[in-house]
Parts: sequence; structure tokens; C-alpha cells
Amino acid sequence: MRTPAIILNFKTYAQVDGDGALALARICEEVQRETGASIIICPPMVELSRIAHEVNTPVFAQNVDLWESSARTGHTTLSSVKAAGASGILINHSENRRRMADIEALITACRKEGLTSIVCTNNISASRAAAAMGPDLVAMEPPELIGGDISVTTVNPGIVRDTVKAVEAITSDVRVLTGAGVKNAEDIRVALELGTVGVLLASGVVKAEDPRGVLRKMTEGLVR
Ligand code: G3P
Repeated sequence: MRTPAIILNFKTYAQVDGDGALALARICEEVQRETGASIIICPPMVELSRIAHEVNTPVFAQNVDLWESSARTGHTTLSSVKAAGASGILINHSENRRRMADIEALITACRKEGLTSIVCTNNISASRAAAAMGPDLVAMEPPELIGGDISVTTVNPGIVRDTVKAVEAITSDVRVLTGAGVKNAEDIRVALELGTVGVLLASGVVKAEDPRGVLRKMTEGLVR
């Protein structure tokens, strides 16, 4: 994954139902082309395949339920998101927590399949535990700030800096992202200054009146 990066989680907001997801993905593709910024998108799961095939922007899955194919109904497997065109996976998002053993199994399966793994965490100690499992990235997001108007980098820059230090103390192989309330270029600039390699964000772009304008402006913060 090219860093510094903006990882845009579309979540399951109404704005990205149906063609809304493709429209936002095309905006991300254009902004990426115009600015050279690294933008990774996580569309709603039902739109993942269509978007991965139609848009030239790296696509990650918001989640997978199973790391092995089997006779199960209504679940999403790791091999199916890979076949659909995903190049990475969000694991243990705050809105979709997993058991520790499952997180580890998913990281191992991602490594085997050549998929980038991002493990989401809620604080420093969870980030330490996640880093010890060896994902590609840890994304630390205080849950109480998710979807809010003030960025974690403003409310609690210390937790971001200390997460980076805690992960570095475990391994130099795992990079750190942060997120929750990220809304503009300054939030991203500060996130990088605090030692992260980028941000995981959603509402600031997905719910914006002018997602293209907001995202374009945000890319200006990707310079260290
Ligand atoms: O996955 C990103 C997310 O949890 C942060 O959401 O809306 O605070 O940018 P938001």
C-alpha cells in the first residue's frame, strides 16, 4: 500500500447505496489521478466487485466473515473478496468487532493470499496487541470520536503519538493509521506529523455536500 494515504471507508451510509457508491468511487479515482495522492476506498460489500472492476483505485473490503470457504450461508469469505478485486481488508472495525483469535487467523490468511491487512483498534493497548499479531497496518480510532465533528488529532493528539510509539516498540514492520472525526487537510497533516502513515475516515467525505471538493482539499494534508 502506497503511503501516506487516505483510506476512505464508505460504510453503509445511504449516500452510497447502489449507484451512489460507484459515483463516489469515480470521484476518488479522479482526485487520485489529478493529485497523485494515494487514496484507498472501502465500498459497501455488495458494490465491491463492480467498483473494483470499473474504477482504477485500490479497493479494500470493509470486513470479511470467514477466512476459509465452506458451506455457510450469508457470509463473506476472504477468497471471495480477493476474487472480487479487493487488495486489502479492514479487520475488527469499531462497528464490526472480532474475537482476538479470529483477528489473528484473518491476518494470517491475508498474508497467505497477498492481501493487505488493516486491523482497527480503539486505544494504545489494543494497538500493541494488534501489532504483535503482525498485520500490515494498525488503524487506531477512539470509538467515541467516530462520526463526530472533531478529529482525534485535535481532541487527543497524545493517544495518536503514543500509539505510534507503542507499535514501534513492538515491531518496525507494522505501520500506523489513525481516524475518527477527520474532516480536513490540517487533521491529516497533524496525523502524519504525529507519526502515522495516513488516516482512515468516512463521514467527512461520504456525507459532505461536495465530496469531490472536500477530498481534493484533504489531499493537500498528505504532505509531511
Ligand atoms: O472507518 C472510518 C471511521 O470509523 C471513522 O469515521 O466518520 O469519524 O471519519 P469518521
